[in-house]
Amino acid sequence: MNIILKNEADLAGMRVAGRLAAQVLEMLAEHVRPGVTTEHLDQLAHQFILEHDAIPAPLNYHGYPKSICTSVNHQVCHGIPSAKKLKNGDIVNIDVTVIKAGYHGDTSMMFCVGDKTPPYARRLCNVARECLWLGIEQVKPGNTLYDVALAIEKHAHKHGYSVVEEYCGHGIGKEFHEAPQVLHYADPSLRSIQLVPGMTFTIEPMINQGRKETRLLGDNWTVITKDRKLSAQWEHTLAVTEDGYEIFTLRTDEQPFLPHTR
Ligand code: MF3
Ligand code: CO
Ligand code: CO
Repeated sequence: MNIILKNEADLAGMRVAGRLAAQVLEMLAEHVRPGVTTEHLDQLAHQFILEHDAIPAPLNYHGYPKSICTSVNHQVCHGIPSAKKLKNGDIVNIDVTVIKAGYHGDTSMMFCVGDKTPPYARRLCNVARECLWLGIEQVKPGNTLYDVALAIEKHAHKHGYSVVEEYCGHGIGKEFHEAPQVLHYADPSLRSIQLVPGMTFTIEPMINQGRKETRLLGDNWTVITKDRKLSAQWEHTLAVTEDGYEIFTLRTDEQPFLPHTR
């Protein structure tokens, strides 16, 4: 599969789409609390996206039934919003993808629900976020996707966590999922994927508290950890620039989230 390099007009479109996706998460943040259903969060996101003249990319994507993904606790990704209420102490990933003027913006983050999330779960969320940022830091011409994956994998393993292999980041642009596949573990095949200005892709590591293996539920969407331990994921959409990267899905006031001890 060919990697589609983006021109300035494309990058301008990606900026607008990415910003909107980030705004959806900013809007949802105030609503994530014990007792709220993930279906309610889906409705809020759906309405917000339409009001901003955009389309929720997941809706009807290969038959997906909702506008966002909500993956709670041991759910790894692609959790389907439902009438089930979030509980105090849960962790939840909310994954938002919008199509705005023909371009996609894709971003996700973890939320701790209420004030009873145990320290070990908060730590998993924080390390997964550091994994994303350590991967982002490797994005520059001259590096390959192997550098990105290696930085992520090393950090996860250092903390005793595992990296999900069956799901990955992806090129993105006019299509939701384009080449290349952005694996988050150090697969040698990634050494041949050079980073070149104009490439746009997501980085979205799924980091597991226990083993890396996953299982698909009977709904054919929800991915869970095989050992039912916790999983956490953070995602940004970015471009390779002449001297590094540009993140399209940064939230207001969001700063690089890197480990202190380096
Ligand atoms: N947003 C997810 C990603 O990061 C994809 C969700 S596909 C869906 O690639 F159909 F489940 F919504
Ligand atoms: Co994605
Ligand atoms: Co996503």
